[in-house]
Parts: sequence; C-alpha cells; structure tokens
Amino acid sequence: MGEAGTVFILAAGESTRFLSAGPKVLQPVCGRPLLGYVLEQARSLQPRRIVCVVGHQAERVCETFADWQDVEFVTQEERLGTGHALRVAHDACQASHDGIQGPAVVLYGDMPLIRSESLLALLARLSEARASVLTARVSEPRGFGRVLREAGGEFMGIVEEREATAEQLDIDEVNLGVYAFRSEDLAEFLPKLNNQNQKGEYYLTDVLGMLCRRGQRVSAEILEDEREAIGINTLEHLSDARRAIQERILLGHMAGGVFIEDPASTYIDHGVEIGAGTKILPCTVIRKGVKIGRNCEVGPFTHLRAGTVLDDGVEVGNFTEAKNARVGSGTKAKHLTYLGDVEIGPGTNIGAGTIVANYDGVNKHKTTIGKDAFVGSGSILIAPNSVGDRALTGAGAVVTRNSNVPAGEAWVGVPARSLGKRPPTTEKAKSSGSAKKKPGGIT
Ligand code: UD1
Ligand code: MG
Repeated sequence: MGEAGTVFILAAGESTRFLSAGPKVLQPVCGRPLLGYVLEQARSLQPRRIVCVVGHQAERVCETFADWQDVEFVTQEERLGTGHALRVAHDACQASHDGIQGPAVVLYGDMPLIRSESLLALLARLSEARASVLTARVSEPRGFGRVLREAGGEFMGIVEEREATAEQLDIDEVNLGVYAFRSEDLAEFLPKLNNQNQKGEYYLTDVLGMLCRRGQRVSAEILEDEREAIGINTLEHLSDARRAIQERILLGHMAGGVFIEDPASTYIDHGVEIGAGTKILPCTVIRKGVKIGRNCEVGPFTHLRAGTVLDDGVEVGNFTEAKNARVGSGTKAKHLTYLGDVEIGPGTNIGAGTIVANYDGVNKHKTTIGKDAFVGSGSILIAPNSVGDRALTGAGAVVTRNSNVPAGEAWVGVPARSLGKRPPTTEKAKSSGSAKKKPGGIT
C-alpha cells in the first residue's frame, strides 16, 4: 500500500475570498502559479496517474500547465463542493481505459507547502488504517475544518468551521485537505454524500466520518511543521505562503553554496539557477528563469529580470537592473545601471549610470557590447547598437542608434563621435587594474 495509484488535485475553485476574479490556483507565488507547487507534490509520489479537477476558467488553467504532459485535466462544470469535485474526477478516471488502480491520494490546489515526506507517510499509513488524513495543530485555524477525536484520541470526523459548535471552534487541530483512500471506498461513498449543510455543498470530509461510522479506522497524523499547513483562502494567506515558500527557496540555494547575506530582504523566484560561491547581497530581487554562474556578486539593491544570464565572476551592484541581459564572465556593472536586451562579452566594465536604451517607444532592440570594453560613466547606448571588443565610450557619451562603435575605438560626446583608436593608457589602466586612470570610471 506504499505507492499511489492516482493523485487527484482539486483546483476548480475561484478566488472569491480574494475579492478578485480569476482562478485561485493561477495566483503567482514566487514567480510560479500556485498550482505548480501542488502538481510537483503529486509528481513526487510517482503515481500512475495525476488527475487535476479544473472549473473556473478551466481553459486558462489547462493552457498554463500544457507542458505538464503527465497531468490529466477533468472539468467540473458546476462547482458543488470538494466531494463533488472528487466524484467528477473519480468517475472520469473509472470510465477511462486505464481505470483506477491502487490507493488514491487527494490534494487541494490551495495547499502549496505540503512536503513529499508528509505525503509518503500518509500513504504508508494505509497499511494499518482504511484511510488517512493529514492534520496540524495551529495557532490560527484560518477557516479550516476542525478534527474531531474520541476520548481515547481515535479520529472520528471533521466538522467544517461553519458547522462547528462554539466548543468545536476551540479545537486547534485542523484538516489540511490531504487524504489517502482506497479507491473502492471512493466508489462506494462519494455517491452517498449529500449537501445538507450550511454551504449547500458536497463535502469530501464527510467520507471520513462515514468510514468511521462503518467501524473503519481512519488514521489522522498530526504534522510537526505548522508551516506546511498554510492554505490559501485570502490574500493574507497568499502572502504567508509566499514568505514560507521564499524561505524554502533561499534555504535551497544556501544548501547549494550560495551566500545570502540578508534572507529577509532577498527575493528569489522559483526556478532561478545560482552557482556555488556566489554572493547575494541585501535588497535584491531575482526573477524566474534567471541564471547566475559561480563566484558572482549580486546586489545590494539589484533587480535581475527574465532572460538574464550572468556568467562566472560577474558583479552587478547597487541599483542595477538587468532584463534579458547576457553578461560575460568577470564583467562588472556595479552602479545605477539599466541593462535591457543586451549581450556583453567577458571582462568589460560598465560604468556608473550607464543606460542601455532598448525601447524606442514602439519596439525593443538589441545591443551588443564586446569583451574587455569600457563603457564610461553615464553613457547612453541607444539600441540597436554595438560596442566592439576593447572599445571605449567616454563619460556621458550618447551613442546614437546603429553607431556600432568599432573594436578598439574610443567614442565621446553627444552625440558620440570617434576619437580614433582607444588610447593605450586606458587599455593599460584596465589591464593593470588601476581605477584612477579610467576616463569617467568609478569602480
Ligand atoms: C477545505 C476543507 C477543510 C480544510 C481546508 C484545508 C472541505 C469541505 N473542507 O475547506 O476541512 O480544512 O480545505 O485547506 O473539503 N474545489 C473544487 N471544486 C469545488 C470546490 C472546491 O475543485 O466545487 C477545490 C478548490 O479549488 C480548492 C479545494 O478544492 O483548491 C478546497 O476548496 P476550498 O473552497 O478552498 O475549501 P476550504 O474552505 O478551504
Ligand atoms: Mg481552501
């Protein structure tokens, strides 16, 4: 009984309690839609099938996860409650050629923090109980169903907050909406659910009570880590979940050898790659898809956006924003700079206040900067453009579009014009590492 046959994910709901439209499960959390975290939980069990119930704006949800080819989507046309949602999915599954085999695990699409270890433990308990459910003791029950136990501690059912008596409301053990069932029990009990309750919905939780009344043992294990119990019904919950997921992401990078000076002011999305030995300094935001090599320094106050790739040893610092920027190894852009749609070779210095102006008001254009180049402070490079290898721009140069500064030349002024070959002194200054002789340079 240790392996999941089918994992069902209930994700048809709307975010009505957010007072905003759209499917709750598409709300972004650290750069990834909420449901992505839950689908990953499902995958971690390596089940035979993953079946996700969608409803509100079902097409949008399916489109968002179109490349998760191992996930089957079933539409719940009318949202009549969690019990109804599971019944729709269960019936669809049973009718399909694969049918349902082995135990079923049920996850709710708004519980992104459940760990796969907890799910494995939940499944393992099917060897000693008819069904199992995850619960947690919490300081703030956030509208969750309360767990009812007999005097001896045996699980006997769940009461929803709306239905709970004042005494039951004081119970601090809540239902996390994560269950393992035998599929024959779902086939038997789901059709027996009714909607005679405050919400007029078919509550999946009632299946557990029915099993208990039948004399079957339901195992309800209390999770140790309360943070796994963060479920999202309101915008406040969404920000709690974001904080907890962010913490996990940062701890993951630290385990991979990334130094993060101040986790409290560091925001790194899901799906960012960072090499060992890299330092992330305070007040830094790194968005999804960014790749950072080894031994780089990022921050303080840096914003790295989609499509940005930093090779090994790159330094980007104070008030530098990069979008779709590919930066070669050892290149530095340390102060007050915007790098938009640009490719920069290795060993180049981007002076303070440089702007790569990628947008002409209608379209975005690309800029290329070669290796060992020197872009002087306050330069504006108007795209499309290029600055060749070892070329230099003077402080305040405005390099108008399509100027294409040739390799090894120095360009200065507004609009920037060629002074001919870059003076050897500036190249020498660069190679000797002396900061003082660089024209317009601040290091
Ligand atoms: C549910 C549980 C509650 C538990 C809590 C944990 C029931 C009756 N209550 O309450 O005991 O403490 O989760 O988070 O199960 N959904 C559908 N179709 C529907 C209704 C809901 O797919 O018709 C989905 C929602 O998208 C959501 C999940 O099921 O992902 C749970 O629904 P929600 O309305 O959030 O239930 P809770 O009130 O949180
Ligand atoms: Mg919920």
